[in-house]
Amino acid sequence: MRITLGVTGGVAAYKAAELVRRLQQDNFSVQVVMTRGAREFITPLTFAALSGQKVITDLFGGAEGQDANLESAIEHIAVAQRTDLLLVAPATADVIAKFARGIADDFLTTLYLASTAPVVIAPAMNVNMWEHPATQANLETLRRRGVRVVEPGTGDLACGMVGAGRMAEPEAIADAVLSALGRRHDLAGEIVLVTAGGTREALDPVRFLGNRSSGKMGYALADAAQSRGAKVTLISGPSALHPPPHCDLVKVTTADQMRQAVLERMTEATLVIKAAAVADYRPVNVSEQKLKRSGNLTIELAPTEDILAEVVRRRRPGQLIVGFAAETSNLMENGRAKLLRKGADAIVVNDVSGDGVGIDADRNAATFLTLSTSIELPEMPKRKLADRILDEIVTLRRPRSLLLEMDEHKDVNAKLDRFKQDVVREESAPFDAARRQLIVE
Ligand code: CTP
Repeated sequence: MRITLGVTGGVAAYKAAELVRRLQQDNFSVQVVMTRGAREFITPLTFAALSGQKVITDLFGGAEGQDANLESAIEHIAVAQRTDLLLVAPATADVIAKFARGIADDFLTTLYLASTAPVVIAPAMNVNMWEHPATQANLETLRRRGVRVVEPGTGDLACGMVGAGRMAEPEAIADAVLSALGRRHDLAGEIVLVTAGGTREALDPVRFLGNRSSGKMGYALADAAQSRGAKVTLISGPSALHPPPHCDLVKVTTADQMRQAVLERMTEATLVIKAAAVADYRPVNVSEQKLKRSGNLTIELAPTEDILAEVVRRRRPGQLIVGFAAETSNLMENGRAKLLRKGADAIVVNDVSGDGVGIDADRNAATFLTLSTSIELPEMPKRKLADRILDEIVTLRRPRSLLLEMDEHKDVNAKLDRFKQDVVREESAPFDAARRQLIVE
């Protein structure tokens, strides 16, 4: 498949070189188009050497140094016709604005208008430019048009400021490309209910008890499930994130509202993923007036309902239920106890004690725990982790489809018998190996 990679002018242009390599690993042929600004940061020669193709640099001259002729004058149309996906990384505020308004004043912006292929952009800019209402409005326009935005990460920026605006890692961008091309469509027909973010419990009209959850993991799961063909409902606590396009978003604030929203929608779901950081306690009394400072204050708290446990109690046959466990110590021990206590099919255990991974971070590491398996998912961007979690969930589904075919395949039947004996005999690791082997066979 052919990808056209538009590189625009930003410090992150050097990361686009790594991205070319990453895309080639997935067997994509990459045609690079550079804007004038990009050429201030990196030379076309670098991309020509990496991609093995001439780099297109301007509208009428075609490749660098090439004289204008009829072929070069209509080249944007030819490239538009042969590209399977247009990826822009890094995407500056300027190119985002031009795409949003339909301004076509160079090769890349003209190509955008001339192409009907899916578009993925990975913005990179200064935090104030990223947060500016003009940029956000332009992004909203593009999202509505179906453009996939690979959200920038948060951290130290080239301009010396700290905040959102760092281009996403090549791995996360490559993943968005695969999703946009529908390379994986293994959740087609599934109806997925995802909860995300933290809940807030009011103390008075202006204060609440809450937690640091940003919703990033849950939103990444919703996005991944949707691009793998599922119909997705996302029930979210307060979050600054943009929901994936076309998913049914239900906004809630308190644990009780989240519970109501989940219970109302869980019947039709085939898969429930509870990534939300739900408050365990709420104040018994909520003051109608703002609490005044007057020495020590004691707040009485009452436990909230455990939504996950309730979902498990009300589950219907065939429904898969996956919870999360946010832990700061004895991860596996606590995760296993939670799995048993809540009765979910799997628990994704993650360590929330460190900085840079877990709660409110762009990356996460986890262990996917079932009664019989424990699969390590090493640190990676949350969007990628979301796909890995879904891979494991899909694996949980597969033995069922094998069972459905039992009558038709006597050999599979025999294997399943052997497999069941193994299950009784063996511990979790060989169990997992046996299950995987059976699925491969
Ligand atoms: N959960 C829930 N309802 C609650 C609390 C938690 O549905 N009132 C769900 C979370 O969405 C998550 C799982 O239960 O999928 C585990 O949440 P976590 O906060 O790790 O555990 P708790 O059950 O709150 O237990 P503890 O805080 O004691 O570790």
